[in-house]
Amino acid sequence: MAISVKSAREIDLMRESGKILCSVHDELGRFVRPGISTMDIDQLGEKLIRAHGCIPNFLNYNGYPASICVSVNEEVVHGIPSKHRILQEGDIVSLDAGLIYKGYHSDAARTYAVGQISKEAQQLIDRTKQSFFEGIKYAKAGNHLHDISNAIDAYISQFGYGIVRDLVGHGIGTKLHEDPQIPNFAQKRRGPLLQAGMTLAIEPMINMGRYDVEWLEDDWTVVAEDGSYSAHYENTVLITDTEPEILTLEV
Ligand code: MF3
Ligand code: CO
Repeated sequence: MAISVKSAREIDLMRESGKILCSVHDELGRFVRPGISTMDIDQLGEKLIRAHGCIPNFLNYNGYPASICVSVNEEVVHGIPSKHRILQEGDIVSLDAGLIYKGYHSDAARTYAVGQISKEAQQLIDRTKQSFFEGIKYAKAGNHLHDISNAIDAYISQFGYGIVRDLVGHGIGTKLHEDPQIPNFAQKRRGPLLQAGMTLAIEPMINMGRYDVEWLEDDWTVVAEDGSYSAHYENTVLITDTEPEILTLEV
């Protein structure tokens, strides 16, 4: 399927959608601490999204039962919030959130430290975030999609981490998941040409150990097979003829 190119009007709506999501993430980040449950995060997130007159796009997506994906430690993505899962000092927690504003989706993820964490865990979080920024150096019109994938892989590989292969980033717009798929590991093919007006959710998922993942019994929660910590960082990005515009980040 063709990759959609957004009009000026659509880009304005994507910008507003992203701005609201950014503010939701900022509040959720301030809320993270030892002693809260992963469901507390989901409830606050849903409340904030609705308070802006927006719709949580993850809720009921293919049956997903919550608004915010909350993934702790070896959980990679799509953790289901639970009132029984209490965050502990030393945990790392990935929050993946998205919303719909006037028909336009935004999607972003952050990984946070819960209280004091190990130096190794903090490095994983920081390097996962940095890999996104390494990738988007290539996110401009005229480049190929996989230039982004290759840059993320080149940066992460030096640390010996596992780049999750079973899940990828994606186009985004009037749907949460649009073409193209955006792998975070090196590709032989160049992928499609990037054009101004494309909007992409770029989302490296990085394991401290091996890249292999498996699904828990709930059929949602993706975990690192070797039990190692995993981090996730994502923004919705607008391709332009010059620098990309990160729609879910205040600059
Ligand atoms: N950000 C997630 C992704 O792109 C969306 C989660 S869909 C849900 O895969 F159903 F798990 F919420
Ligand atoms: Co996404």
